[in-house]
Amino acid sequence: MNIYTKISGFGHFLPKKIYSNEDLKKIVDTSDEWIYSRTGIKQRHIAESNELTSNLAINAALSAFNNSKIDPKVIDCIIIATTTPDNTFPSTATKVQNFFQLKDIPSFDIQAVCSGFIYGLQIADSFIKSEKFKNILLIGAETLSKIVDWKDRRTCVLFGDGAGSMILSADKKKNGILSTKIYSDGEWIDSLYADGGPSLNQRVGKIRMKGQDIFKQAVTKLSQATENALKECNLNKEDINWFVPHQANQRIILSTAKKLGIGEKKTISTVENHANTSAASIPLAISSAVNSGKIKKNDILALCAIGGGLTWGSCILKI
Ligand code: UT7
Repeated sequence: MNIYTKISGFGHFLPKKIYSNEDLKKIVDTSDEWIYSRTGIKQRHIAESNELTSNLAINAALSAFNNSKIDPKVIDCIIIATTTPDNTFPSTATKVQNFFQLKDIPSFDIQAVCSGFIYGLQIADSFIKSEKFKNILLIGAETLSKIVDWKDRRTCVLFGDGAGSMILSADKKKNGILSTKIYSDGEWIDSLYADGGPSLNQRVGKIRMKGQDIFKQAVTKLSQATENALKECNLNKEDINWFVPHQANQRIILSTAKKLGIGEKKTISTVENHANTSAASIPLAISSAVNSGKIKKNDILALCAIGGGLTWGSCILKI
């Protein structure tokens, strides 16, 4: 008998502190007009100095457990997609595992920057379909504000902090994850990176980006990946209830939707309030849209993301 991966819970968490575009004017030479017209961003949530990625991840997990009424004890694997782990090691996932006292289960972080959650969906889906695990806690969690160069107006206005989570469970019905596609191309490693690392210079580093390089690649790669994922599960754009792309820039979001032939009304956008939260952006957008009543049970979602590397990918899933 075939086993499939259903989505049995969603959650998210955002730090309380908010920086508006007006607040950023006090830090760098910028304006609300520049930021909003180029990116669609109005504000971003910012973690306190003692608020770590693991704290955000734990709160997003608690939110999924509360919303779904699922007992944390059933979780048999934890995966965290993050590019801002608390430490170089151990993984942030082991901190979450320790918080929930889930002894003797595997927990690990994955690093695919903004595509991390899509990579995580493919990994979790493969684990469940191969019957290794039955209930996986997958979290995208980031404190990007801690690796942003607050003197660089080209990048500091773009990013925010947050976490989103999903509980993925084995099911006999063909629901949940219908297809996943993940890709990378290291040719673009110099276009978006942190200029530090344990082996490179023993520092954490700050975000550096050639914005236009990423912009030019984003629309083509995101739309191609989404088309490939739709093809893999024999669906087409008319079957999609909601398009949930990575929340980096409203112009990229709308251009990709247009290229795919998906209307703005079917496109979830949270970039105005959350900015770019990297691996957290897609689960955060889904959980927020479930809470606001936009995304409903049995809806079919097309997700796609692109990030440093480049890495990119897409996932089609039925809620
Ligand atoms: O999740 C990872 C994926 N990353 C992305 O998706 C980012 C993709 N790229 C973008 O979204 C856009 O390229 C940006 C929003 C980052 C930049 O927009 P742009 O239209 O490509 O602007 P630009 O970099 O060409 O800069 C235009 C001008 C420059 O001034 P000069 O050289 O023309 O005098 C910049 O110095 O805008 C200036 N500028 C700013 N001005 C006010 C750059 N940042 C700012 C700022 N405020 N914050």
